[in-house]
Amino acid sequence: MRIVLVGASGFLGKHLLQALTHDGHQCVVLTRCASHRSTTAMIPGVELVQADVFNAGVLAEKFAGAGAVVSMAGVLNASGRGGQGFYRVHTELVEHIIKACQASGVIRLLHVSALNAGKGSSHYLRSKGDAELRLNAAHDLNVTIFQPSVIFGKGDEFFNRFAGMLAVAPVMPLACPKARLQPVYVGDVVTAMLSALEDPLTWGKSYELAGPQDFTLKELVQWTAKAMGLHRWIIGLPKPLSAMMAAVMNLVPGKPLSWDNYQSLQTDNTSDRNDFACFGIEPRAIDTVVPDYLAGSLHQRRLQTFRQKPRP
Ligand SMILES: NC(=O)c1ccc[n+]([C@@H]2O[C@H](COP(=O)([O-])OP(=O)(O)OC[C@H]3O[C@@H](n4cnc5c(N)ncnc54)[C@H](OP(=O)(O)O)[C@@H]3O)[C@@H](O)[C@H]2O)c1
Repeated sequence: MRIVLVGASGFLGKHLLQALTHDGHQCVVLTRCASHRSTTAMIPGVELVQADVFNAGVLAEKFAGAGAVVSMAGVLNASGRGGQGFYRVHTELVEHIIKACQASGVIRLLHVSALNAGKGSSHYLRSKGDAELRLNAAHDLNVTIFQPSVIFGKGDEFFNRFAGMLAVAPVMPLACPKARLQPVYVGDVVTAMLSALEDPLTWGKSYELAGPQDFTLKELVQWTAKAMGLHRWIIGLPKPLSAMMAAVMNLVPGKPLSWDNYQSLQTDNTSDRNDFACFGIEPRAIDTVVPDYLAGSLHQRRLQTFRQKPRP
């Protein structure tokens, strides 16, 4: 099948593209900025095309003749008053994708949203929820929505980011230590998406994708330190201090913890539904996957430190 993907140049997209091309699908990735040196462009069977993804006319032209479209653009941090940046990427872009599907005659659309979309006061979650409302109202399209909890796997932003901090900090103050999360393996998310692609039973449905265990954020950070063989002192901050830390970090370039991240952590990122069963998937636990790639990244970091040491 010829599949056109929007927002597939990132972490989940690369894993999905490997699986789609392995199954013989021809993939076209629309991106805001194409570089032929990009690791996405290097996946055999993937064509990386630079396009104005916010222009429904341009999208319709690129979608023409596709058997399916995959919509998966997302941002964890965005600028602009009232969460403008989030609504632009999560809601407006999805509206353009819906219009472009309708104009080009593509009726199959897979969309990656997030667990808790539409809940709480985070703009990330609210904008994801608004997109889902629009997708569910597009009755002329066969839409399947995926709502993952935090996704782990090689190249993830979650365990790798904490591993990077733990590698250098013997003591770590942690905001929102009691927030609950149910990490889900990227390979399981990809398998669910592949199964859904050609299965009419998934049309018009939303799937909550969460792993087999739920943890507090503090438990996950402690687990990461242990998996790396490090003894670290992780200090969970009470709510007022967590809010203060988020307010300060929100001003730091790159926003290591934004105010909106703080808001989304106020709602437990867990699911009591076992939607993986619909695909015959038994989701994998963190301890069967994460230590392998953390060991690799720890080794890389040590090698880098060794290379940077001044030679006599
Ligand atoms: N990773 C997780 O733990 C997790 C959990 C739940 C839900 N999700 C959702 O899953 C999807 C994929 O996540 P990911 O981890 O693969 O994210 P990612 O690595 O950050 O990639 C996101 C993609 O979004 C596109 N994008 C970023 N900023 C954009 C902007 N301003 N305008 C238009 N497009 C933009 C980028 O495409 P180009 O740069 O090529 O244009 C990029 O390839 C997202 O929708 C995310 O919200 C992820």
